[in-house]
Amino acid sequence: MLTRNALRTELTWIPAMGLGRFKPAYSTPLGAMFLQDSLDILRSLPGCSVDLVLTSPPFALTRQKEYGNEPIERYLEWFMPFCLEIKRVLKPSGSFVLDIGGAWLPGVPVRSIYHFELAVKLAREFCLAQEFYWYNPARLPTPAEWVTVRRVRVKDAVNMVWWFSKTEWPKADNRAVLQPYSDSMKHLIEHGYTAKKRPSGHEISTKFQKDNGGSIPPNLIQIANTESNSEYLRECKKRGIKPHPARYPESLAKFFIDFLTDEGDLIVDPFAGSNVTGAVCNAEARRWIAVELESKYVEGSAIRFDMSLFDNVVMRTASKKTKKSDGRNRPEHLRSR
Ligand SMILES: C[S@@+](CC[C@H](N)C(=O)[O-])C[C@H]1O[C@@H](n2cnc3c(N)ncnc32)[C@H](O)[C@@H]1O
Repeated sequence: MLTRNALRTELTWIPAMGLGRFKPAYSTPLGAMFLQDSLDILRSLPGCSVDLVLTSPPFALTRQKEYGNEPIERYLEWFMPFCLEIKRVLKPSGSFVLDIGGAWLPGVPVRSIYHFELAVKLAREFCLAQEFYWYNPARLPTPAEWVTVRRVRVKDAVNMVWWFSKTEWPKADNRAVLQPYSDSMKHLIEHGYTAKKRPSGHEISTKFQKDNGGSIPPNLIQIANTESNSEYLRECKKRGIKPHPARYPESLAKFFIDFLTDEGDLIVDPFAGSNVTGAVCNAEARRWIAVELESKYVEGSAIRFDMSLFDNVVMRTASKKTKKSDGRNRPEHLRSR
Protein backbone atom coordinates (compact mmCIF):
# COMPACT_ATOMS: atom_id res chain seq x y z
CA MET A 1 0.00 0.00 0.00
CA LEU A 2 1.26 3.49 -0.82
CA THR A 3 1.76 5.81 2.10
CA ARG A 4 0.78 9.46 2.24
CA ASN A 5 4.40 10.52 1.74
CA ALA A 6 5.02 8.19 -1.16
CA LEU A 7 2.06 9.79 -2.89
CA ARG A 8 3.52 13.28 -2.65
CA THR A 9 5.77 12.65 -5.61
CA GLU A 10 5.53 13.39 -9.33
CA LEU A 11 2.38 12.23 -11.04
CA THR A 12 4.23 9.54 -12.98
CA TRP A 13 1.52 6.92 -12.71
CA ILE A 14 -0.84 8.72 -15.12
CA PRO A 15 1.16 7.87 -18.30
CA ALA A 16 1.64 4.38 -16.90
CA MET A 17 -2.15 4.08 -16.83
CA GLY A 18 -2.30 4.43 -20.62
CA LEU A 19 -3.24 8.12 -20.46
CA GLY A 20 0.04 9.56 -21.77
CA ARG A 21 -1.61 10.97 -24.91
CA PHE A 22 -4.15 13.00 -22.88
CA LYS A 23 -2.95 16.20 -21.27
CA PRO A 24 -4.64 16.79 -17.92
CA ALA A 25 -6.37 20.16 -17.50
CA TYR A 26 -4.76 20.17 -14.06
CA SER A 27 -3.20 17.73 -11.68
CA THR A 28 -2.13 17.39 -8.08
CA PRO A 29 0.38 14.87 -6.72
CA LEU A 30 -2.55 12.51 -6.27
CA GLY A 31 -4.66 12.89 -9.36
CA ALA A 32 -5.56 14.51 -12.64
CA MET A 33 -8.61 16.16 -14.20
CA PHE A 34 -9.17 15.63 -17.92
CA LEU A 35 -11.34 17.81 -20.16
CA GLN A 36 -12.40 14.90 -22.30
CA ASP A 37 -15.13 12.46 -23.20
CA SER A 38 -14.81 9.88 -20.44
CA LEU A 39 -15.48 7.01 -22.83
CA ASP A 40 -12.10 7.78 -24.44
CA ILE A 41 -10.36 7.86 -21.06
CA LEU A 42 -12.03 4.67 -19.84
CA ARG A 43 -11.13 2.86 -23.07
CA SER A 44 -7.48 3.84 -22.60
CA LEU A 45 -7.17 2.58 -19.01
CA PRO A 46 -5.74 -0.90 -18.51
CA GLY A 47 -8.10 -3.66 -17.39
CA CYS A 48 -8.37 -4.51 -13.68
CA SER A 49 -6.59 -1.31 -12.61
CA VAL A 50 -9.19 0.75 -10.71
CA ASP A 51 -10.38 0.27 -7.12
CA LEU A 52 -13.53 2.39 -7.24
CA VAL A 53 -15.58 4.20 -9.88
CA LEU A 54 -17.65 6.74 -7.99
CA THR A 55 -19.86 8.95 -10.08
CA SER A 56 -23.09 10.75 -10.68
CA PRO A 57 -23.83 10.72 -14.40
CA PRO A 58 -26.31 13.09 -16.04
CA PHE A 59 -29.72 11.73 -15.04
CA ALA A 60 -32.42 11.06 -17.61
CA LEU A 61 -34.66 14.05 -17.11
CA THR A 62 -37.81 15.19 -18.81
CA ARG A 63 -36.65 18.79 -18.52
CA GLN A 64 -33.12 19.09 -19.88
CA LYS A 65 -30.42 20.48 -17.58
CA GLU A 66 -27.84 22.93 -18.89
CA TYR A 67 -25.31 20.16 -19.57
CA GLY A 68 -27.65 18.19 -21.81
CA ASN A 69 -29.08 15.11 -20.10
CA GLU A 70 -30.05 12.15 -22.21
CA PRO A 71 -33.78 11.58 -22.70
CA ILE A 72 -35.35 8.65 -20.85
CA GLU A 73 -35.97 6.55 -23.99
CA ARG A 74 -32.32 6.56 -24.94
CA TYR A 75 -30.74 6.53 -21.51
CA LEU A 76 -29.73 2.88 -21.28
CA GLU A 77 -28.40 2.82 -24.84
CA TRP A 78 -26.30 5.90 -24.04
CA PHE A 79 -25.06 4.79 -20.64
CA MET A 80 -24.28 1.09 -21.09
CA PRO A 81 -21.04 1.55 -23.14
CA PHE A 82 -19.59 3.53 -20.19
CA CYS A 83 -20.65 0.79 -17.76
CA LEU A 84 -19.06 -1.99 -19.79
CA GLU A 85 -15.76 -0.09 -19.82
CA ILE A 86 -16.10 0.50 -16.08
CA LYS A 87 -16.52 -3.24 -15.58
CA ARG A 88 -13.38 -3.89 -17.63
CA VAL A 89 -11.19 -1.40 -15.74
CA LEU A 90 -12.29 -2.41 -12.22
CA LYS A 91 -10.08 -4.71 -10.18
CA PRO A 92 -11.80 -7.92 -9.01
CA SER A 93 -12.03 -6.24 -5.58
CA GLY A 94 -13.38 -3.03 -7.12
CA SER A 95 -16.72 -1.26 -6.80
CA PHE A 96 -18.88 0.92 -9.03
CA VAL A 97 -20.99 3.40 -7.06
CA LEU A 98 -23.60 5.29 -9.00
CA ASP A 99 -25.66 8.17 -7.64
CA ILE A 100 -28.77 8.48 -9.77
CA GLY A 101 -31.97 10.45 -9.35
CA GLY A 102 -35.46 9.50 -10.41
CA ALA A 103 -37.55 11.21 -13.07
CA TRP A 104 -41.19 11.91 -13.88
CA LEU A 105 -42.94 11.12 -17.14
CA PRO A 106 -43.82 14.28 -19.10
CA GLY A 107 -47.15 15.91 -18.29
CA VAL A 108 -48.41 13.34 -15.77
CA PRO A 109 -47.69 12.65 -12.09
CA VAL A 110 -46.16 9.28 -12.91
CA ARG A 111 -42.63 8.12 -12.21
CA SER A 112 -40.23 6.82 -14.80
CA ILE A 113 -38.64 3.49 -13.96
CA TYR A 114 -35.49 4.18 -15.98
CA HIS A 115 -33.19 4.02 -12.94
CA PHE A 116 -34.65 0.67 -11.89
CA GLU A 117 -34.31 -0.65 -15.43
CA LEU A 118 -30.72 0.52 -15.35
CA ALA A 119 -30.12 -1.30 -12.06
CA VAL A 120 -31.62 -4.53 -13.44
CA LYS A 121 -29.46 -4.28 -16.54
CA LEU A 122 -26.34 -3.52 -14.52
CA ALA A 123 -27.04 -6.36 -12.11
CA ARG A 124 -26.54 -8.71 -15.08
CA GLU A 125 -23.04 -7.30 -15.60
CA PHE A 126 -22.03 -6.62 -11.99
CA CYS A 127 -23.04 -7.92 -8.55
CA LEU A 128 -25.49 -5.62 -6.78
CA ALA A 129 -23.56 -5.35 -3.51
CA GLN A 130 -26.15 -3.10 -1.87
CA GLU A 131 -28.54 -0.32 -2.71
CA PHE A 132 -28.31 2.96 -0.81
CA TYR A 133 -30.78 5.80 -0.52
CA TRP A 134 -29.42 9.31 -0.23
CA TYR A 135 -32.10 11.35 1.55
CA ASN A 136 -31.67 15.07 1.02
CA PRO A 137 -34.07 16.85 3.41
CA ALA A 138 -33.24 20.17 1.76
CA ARG A 139 -34.58 19.07 -1.64
CA LEU A 140 -37.10 21.53 -3.12
CA PRO A 141 -40.70 20.36 -3.51
CA THR A 142 -40.68 19.53 -7.21
CA PRO A 143 -42.28 19.02 -9.68
CA ALA A 144 -44.21 22.04 -8.38
CA GLU A 145 -47.28 21.19 -10.47
CA TRP A 146 -47.82 17.86 -8.66
CA VAL A 147 -46.36 18.72 -5.25
CA THR A 148 -47.22 22.32 -4.40
CA VAL A 149 -49.97 23.29 -6.88
CA ARG A 150 -52.24 20.23 -7.21
CA ARG A 151 -50.84 18.63 -4.01
CA VAL A 152 -51.20 15.10 -5.39
CA ARG A 153 -47.64 13.90 -4.77
CA VAL A 154 -45.11 14.46 -1.99
CA LYS A 155 -41.64 15.82 -2.51
CA ASP A 156 -39.11 13.56 -4.13
CA ALA A 157 -36.18 13.77 -1.73
CA VAL A 158 -34.26 10.53 -2.30
CA ASN A 159 -31.64 9.53 -4.86
CA MET A 160 -30.75 5.92 -5.41
CA VAL A 161 -27.08 5.16 -4.92
CA TRP A 162 -26.43 1.76 -6.48
CA TRP A 163 -23.35 -0.04 -5.21
CA PHE A 164 -22.22 -2.56 -7.80
CA SER A 165 -19.12 -4.71 -7.59
CA LYS A 166 -17.15 -6.72 -10.09
CA THR A 167 -17.17 -9.84 -7.90
CA GLU A 168 -19.19 -11.02 -4.92
CA TRP A 169 -16.48 -9.92 -2.48
CA PRO A 170 -15.49 -6.30 -3.17
CA LYS A 171 -13.16 -4.60 -0.74
CA ALA A 172 -15.29 -2.95 1.97
CA ASP A 173 -14.96 -2.17 5.66
CA ASN A 174 -17.83 -0.61 7.55
CA ARG A 175 -15.48 0.12 10.49
CA ALA A 176 -14.17 3.00 8.35
CA VAL A 177 -17.59 4.71 8.32
CA LEU A 178 -18.85 4.25 11.86
CA GLN A 179 -21.19 6.93 13.12
CA PRO A 180 -21.27 8.47 16.60
CA TYR A 181 -23.38 6.44 19.01
CA SER A 182 -26.83 7.76 19.85
CA ASP A 183 -27.39 8.92 23.43
CA SER A 184 -29.43 5.78 24.19
CA MET A 185 -26.65 3.53 22.87
CA LYS A 186 -24.08 5.41 24.96
CA HIS A 187 -26.30 4.88 27.98
CA LEU A 188 -26.61 1.19 27.19
CA ILE A 189 -22.85 0.75 26.82
CA GLU A 190 -22.26 2.54 30.10
CA HIS A 191 -25.02 1.06 32.21
CA GLY A 192 -25.46 -2.37 30.73
CA TYR A 193 -28.33 -4.31 29.24
CA THR A 194 -30.27 -7.40 30.28
CA ALA A 195 -29.90 -9.95 27.52
CA LYS A 196 -33.34 -10.93 26.21
CA LYS A 197 -35.32 -11.79 23.13
CA ARG A 198 -36.84 -9.00 21.08
CA PRO A 199 -40.50 -9.26 19.97
CA SER A 200 -39.07 -10.07 16.50
CA GLY A 201 -37.40 -13.15 18.01
CA HIS A 202 -33.86 -11.77 17.69
CA GLU A 203 -31.60 -12.56 20.64
CA ILE A 204 -30.07 -9.36 22.00
CA SER A 205 -26.99 -10.56 23.84
CA THR A 206 -24.72 -8.65 26.19
CA LYS A 207 -22.33 -8.23 23.22
CA PHE A 208 -24.37 -5.13 22.44
CA GLN A 209 -22.72 -3.56 25.47
CA LYS A 210 -19.32 -3.52 23.82
CA ASP A 211 -18.01 -0.14 22.69
CA ASN A 212 -17.02 -0.68 19.05
CA GLY A 213 -16.13 2.95 18.48
CA GLY A 214 -19.41 3.91 16.84
CA SER A 215 -22.56 2.52 15.30
CA ILE A 216 -22.74 0.78 11.94
CA PRO A 217 -24.48 3.12 9.50
CA PRO A 218 -27.65 2.12 7.66
CA ASN A 219 -28.08 2.20 3.88
CA LEU A 220 -30.14 5.37 4.22
CA ILE A 221 -27.69 8.24 4.08
CA GLN A 222 -29.10 11.55 5.22
CA ILE A 223 -27.19 14.56 3.95
CA ALA A 224 -28.77 17.93 3.28
CA ASN A 225 -27.28 19.27 0.06
CA THR A 226 -27.01 22.85 1.27
CA GLU A 227 -23.60 24.18 0.43
CA SER A 228 -24.28 27.90 0.63
CA ASN A 229 -21.02 29.16 2.06
CA SER A 230 -18.29 26.91 0.71
CA GLU A 231 -15.00 28.15 -0.67
CA TYR A 232 -16.02 26.68 -4.03
CA LEU A 233 -19.16 28.84 -4.18
CA ARG A 234 -17.43 31.94 -2.83
CA GLU A 235 -14.59 31.68 -5.36
CA CYS A 236 -16.98 30.92 -8.22
CA LYS A 237 -18.85 34.10 -7.37
CA LYS A 238 -15.68 36.15 -7.04
CA ARG A 239 -14.40 34.94 -10.40
CA GLY A 240 -17.71 35.21 -12.24
CA ILE A 241 -17.99 31.44 -12.78
CA LYS A 242 -21.36 29.74 -12.70
CA PRO A 243 -21.16 26.92 -10.14
CA HIS A 244 -21.96 23.42 -11.36
CA PRO A 245 -25.74 23.01 -11.01
CA ALA A 246 -25.78 19.35 -9.87
CA ARG A 247 -23.01 18.81 -7.37
CA TYR A 248 -23.16 16.02 -4.84
CA PRO A 249 -22.08 16.74 -1.26
CA GLU A 250 -18.52 15.98 -0.19
CA SER A 251 -19.77 13.83 2.66
CA LEU A 252 -21.55 11.49 0.24
CA ALA A 253 -18.34 10.95 -1.72
CA LYS A 254 -16.33 10.61 1.50
CA PHE A 255 -18.64 7.89 2.81
CA PHE A 256 -18.05 5.58 -0.17
CA ILE A 257 -14.35 6.44 -0.50
CA ASP A 258 -13.71 5.62 3.17
CA PHE A 259 -15.96 2.54 3.09
CA LEU A 260 -14.61 0.95 -0.10
CA THR A 261 -10.98 2.03 -0.50
CA ASP A 262 -7.66 2.41 1.33
CA GLU A 263 -5.06 5.14 1.12
CA GLY A 264 -3.25 5.05 -2.23
CA ASP A 265 -6.12 3.26 -4.03
CA LEU A 266 -7.25 4.60 -7.40
CA ILE A 267 -10.68 6.16 -7.82
CA VAL A 268 -12.16 7.28 -11.15
CA ASP A 269 -15.04 9.71 -11.67
CA PRO A 270 -16.02 9.68 -15.36
CA PHE A 271 -18.69 12.41 -14.96
CA ALA A 272 -16.78 14.64 -12.60
CA GLY A 273 -18.61 17.99 -12.92
CA SER A 274 -17.13 20.23 -10.23
CA ASN A 275 -14.80 17.39 -9.18
CA VAL A 276 -16.06 16.81 -5.65
CA THR A 277 -14.72 13.25 -6.02
CA GLY A 278 -11.17 14.40 -6.80
CA ALA A 279 -11.18 16.93 -3.97
CA VAL A 280 -12.28 14.33 -1.42
CA CYS A 281 -9.72 11.82 -2.76
CA ASN A 282 -7.02 14.45 -2.36
CA ALA A 283 -8.04 15.03 1.24
CA GLU A 284 -8.23 11.29 1.94
CA ALA A 285 -4.86 10.39 0.30
CA ARG A 286 -6.42 8.37 -2.53
CA ARG A 287 -5.25 8.61 -6.15
CA TRP A 288 -7.87 9.88 -8.58
CA ILE A 289 -8.72 10.40 -12.23
CA ALA A 290 -11.59 12.76 -13.01
CA VAL A 291 -13.10 13.42 -16.43
CA GLU A 292 -15.50 16.16 -17.49
CA LEU A 293 -16.72 17.12 -20.93
CA GLU A 294 -17.51 20.81 -20.34
CA SER A 295 -14.63 23.27 -19.99
CA LYS A 296 -16.60 25.68 -17.80
CA TYR A 297 -17.03 22.98 -15.15
CA VAL A 298 -13.42 21.89 -15.41
CA GLU A 299 -12.30 25.49 -14.86
CA GLY A 300 -14.57 25.97 -11.87
CA SER A 301 -13.50 22.64 -10.38
CA ALA A 302 -9.88 23.80 -10.13
CA ILE A 303 -11.08 26.14 -7.37
CA ARG A 304 -11.41 23.12 -5.11
CA PHE A 305 -7.63 22.65 -5.24
CA ASP A 306 -4.63 24.91 -5.03
CA MET A 307 -5.83 28.28 -6.30
CA SER A 308 -2.67 28.70 -8.37
CA LEU A 309 -4.00 25.85 -10.53
CA PHE A 310 -7.00 27.90 -11.46
CA ASP A 311 -5.37 30.53 -13.72
CA ASN A 312 -3.39 27.83 -15.50
CA VAL A 313 -6.50 25.82 -16.15
CA VAL A 314 -8.45 28.74 -17.54
CA MET A 315 -5.64 29.29 -20.04
CA ARG A 316 -5.24 25.64 -20.95
CA THR A 317 -8.92 24.88 -21.38
CA ALA A 318 -9.62 28.07 -23.37
CA SER A 319 -8.61 26.42 -26.65
CA LYS A 320 -11.01 23.55 -25.99
CA LYS A 321 -13.96 25.73 -24.99
CA THR A 322 -17.38 24.48 -25.95
CA LYS A 323 -19.56 27.37 -27.07
CA LYS A 324 -22.89 26.18 -25.79
CA SER A 325 -24.14 23.00 -24.18
CA ASP A 326 -26.75 22.37 -26.83
CA GLY A 327 -25.22 19.09 -27.93
CA ARG A 328 -23.84 20.39 -31.23
CA ASN A 329 -20.23 20.20 -30.22
CA ARG A 330 -20.54 17.02 -28.20
CA PRO A 331 -19.00 13.78 -29.43
CA GLU A 332 -21.09 11.67 -31.83
CA HIS A 333 -22.33 9.18 -29.21
CA LEU A 334 -23.58 12.03 -27.03
CA ARG A 335 -25.57 13.86 -29.67
CA SER A 336 -29.32 13.64 -29.89
CA ARG A 337 -30.27 11.39 -32.75
C1 LIG B 1 -24.46 15.17 -12.45
S1 LIG B 1 -23.06 15.96 -13.10
C2 LIG B 1 -21.78 15.47 -12.01
C3 LIG B 1 -21.65 16.39 -10.84
C4 LIG B 1 -20.52 16.01 -9.90
N1 LIG B 1 -20.78 14.77 -9.18
C5 LIG B 1 -20.29 17.12 -8.87
O1 LIG B 1 -20.53 16.89 -7.68
O2 LIG B 1 -19.91 18.22 -9.28
C6 LIG B 1 -22.70 15.04 -14.55
C7 LIG B 1 -21.58 15.64 -15.39
O3 LIG B 1 -21.23 14.72 -16.43
C8 LIG B 1 -20.72 15.48 -17.52
N2 LIG B 1 -20.68 14.60 -18.71
C9 LIG B 1 -21.71 14.19 -19.50
N3 LIG B 1 -21.27 13.36 -20.46
C10 LIG B 1 -19.94 13.20 -20.27
C11 LIG B 1 -18.91 12.45 -20.92
N4 LIG B 1 -19.18 11.68 -21.97
N5 LIG B 1 -17.64 12.54 -20.46
C12 LIG B 1 -17.34 13.33 -19.39
N6 LIG B 1 -18.27 14.06 -18.72
C13 LIG B 1 -19.55 14.00 -19.15
C14 LIG B 1 -21.70 16.64 -17.61
O4 LIG B 1 -21.14 17.74 -18.32
C15 LIG B 1 -21.94 16.94 -16.12
O5 LIG B 1 -21.08 17.97 -15.64
